[in-house]
Amino acid sequence: MENLVRTHHCGELRLANLNEKVTVIGWVAKRRNLGSLLFLDLRDRYGIVQILIKTDEIEVPEIRNEYLLQVEGVVNKKDVPNKQLETGDIEIVASKINVINTSENPPIVIADETDASEDIRLKYRYLDLRRPIMQKRFITRAKIVKAAHEYLDAHDFIEVETPILTLSTPEGARDYLVPSRVHKGSFYALPQSPQLFKQLLMVSGFERYYQIAKCFRDEDLRADRQPDFTQIDIETSFLSEDEILTLTEGMIQKIYKDVINYDVKLPLRRIPYDVAVDEYGSDKPDTRFDMKLKSLKEVLKNNEADLFKLNKYIKAIKAENIADVTSRKVQDEYNLTANKFNMRSFIFVKYVNNELEGSVVKLLSEEEKKGLIDTLELKNNDLAIIAVSNIKKNVDFGLGAMRSLLAKKFNLIKPDTYDILWVVNFPLFEKSEETGEITPCHHPFTRPVDEDLDKLETEPYKVYSYSYDIVMNGYEAGGGSLRIYDQDVQKRIFKVLGFTEEDIRRKFGFFVDALKYGTPPHGGLAFGLDRLTMILSGTDNIRDVIAFPKNLSAVCPMSQAPKPVDEAQLKDLGIAVIEKE
Ligand code: AMO
Repeated sequence: MENLVRTHHCGELRLANLNEKVTVIGWVAKRRNLGSLLFLDLRDRYGIVQILIKTDEIEVPEIRNEYLLQVEGVVNKKDVPNKQLETGDIEIVASKINVINTSENPPIVIADETDASEDIRLKYRYLDLRRPIMQKRFITRAKIVKAAHEYLDAHDFIEVETPILTLSTPEGARDYLVPSRVHKGSFYALPQSPQLFKQLLMVSGFERYYQIAKCFRDEDLRADRQPDFTQIDIETSFLSEDEILTLTEGMIQKIYKDVINYDVKLPLRRIPYDVAVDEYGSDKPDTRFDMKLKSLKEVLKNNEADLFKLNKYIKAIKAENIADVTSRKVQDEYNLTANKFNMRSFIFVKYVNNELEGSVVKLLSEEEKKGLIDTLELKNNDLAIIAVSNIKKNVDFGLGAMRSLLAKKFNLIKPDTYDILWVVNFPLFEKSEETGEITPCHHPFTRPVDEDLDKLETEPYKVYSYSYDIVMNGYEAGGGSLRIYDQDVQKRIFKVLGFTEEDIRRKFGFFVDALKYGTPPHGGLAFGLDRLTMILSGTDNIRDVIAFPKNLSAVCPMSQAPKPVDEAQLKDLGIAVIEKE
């Protein structure tokens, strides 16, 4: 085969190349046939250039969209520049066209704007990834990884790989299991994170570890979750929480600077978990808009109505200037959010023409009305959304969810702005929504704060931890903690979580054993690389930054994974599949 010569990339030609003889290679993005003139947009990774073919003057093969062409020609100045293209001042007047490969008519429009459904895009992902906007996202992703490598390398971190076929690492999701053929009936688990291994590397004395690590979690999927995703995973020995946060902030600053040329001001704000939940109704608050939660308990302390007397928590948010667009129907819609947080409904109060309006207003004294207006600083046409419950979490997280919903619906957030902060000092445990049982807020290796150690068995929910999440634009972009390095404390935690001695031995025996051998104090964190990429490339869909992702049903529409396997393969593994009833 002859060498595929090219002198330039499609996207790099400018007026400076005027009159040069060039050869480019690219896919046909567009054709316009004006009789004796044929215009093509030719696309490669670097951009798009216009080709002008004078059909009377050269031999023109059959050309269709997505044919791969090698075009030789001379750079010419366009009479009317095309402002849409970076190469828009010039075009190439073709002297020779070589069809390297033909293409069937593509099933999706290959351009930044495409009307194809996501499932079709994922089915033909290799074509979807030809879209310039997609390639840009993957360049962003690669730049993030490069910046992280450079920063961590400069700070003495060693990259170490940890196994994919391993034992369960508890991060709160279900495991993906892999059957062993050699040991029939036994299973590896794919790691939910390298957590145990990175801690063991600290026992080994590596002191500063990192890894771009694949993680696997079988959990309900959302716009910012995938079953297999990637972490920038970090662990250090001998550093305080403050030192870990400071070191990490440096990396964030470098990533933002290198990737999008944005200056992150350090140090980042640190908001205690309790304050974040109390004021923003979220453990990952987006503070680019205000709308803070305010308690009305004091204002309504003398109110005798059951609604207020019988509920311990009464809080509200103010949504500015939307009273007139909040009909009954809209209120019903908002109440779906209340339902999600186990409340029958919100209470809506409008402030119109200096008067409060709403079914609840008749229950309020003049003083209470004034208190409500003053506390929420209501102005004309504002809407107060009030939540009441005996469970603090319902009120806080319910209003927090409304806060996000309203911000989205009414475009309260300026695009291309970044809000980066730490949420620190999480409780050690929480009650599982699913089972109602005690479960770690982070994972069972998180170190309780020293002052709370004596409450571990008696008041476990009141124990706080040395833990932190990094929150960007309302996303949890990363999280970590200091770790337990004392085997007795580790065993106590396992016991509070309901593990028996036997369970501990069986599941974590090797880990607890390791803690006996001079384990250094250590801690770290992990970033969700996919989420970081989403934020820096301005998309709210994690699938946009993963080359071959799964859809919301955990299926890859392209390869159709997962699929049934041959009977023979199952037999080899000693596995029988029971048909669903
Ligand atoms: P955690 O479980 O908080 O901590 O995960 C760290 C970060 O990983 C990202 N993430 C995900 N991204 C996409 N899809 C998912 N299903 C998914 N799950 C998590 C988030 C999250 O902040 N071992 C600990 C870290 C540590 O303690 O050092 C851990 O995995 O951005």
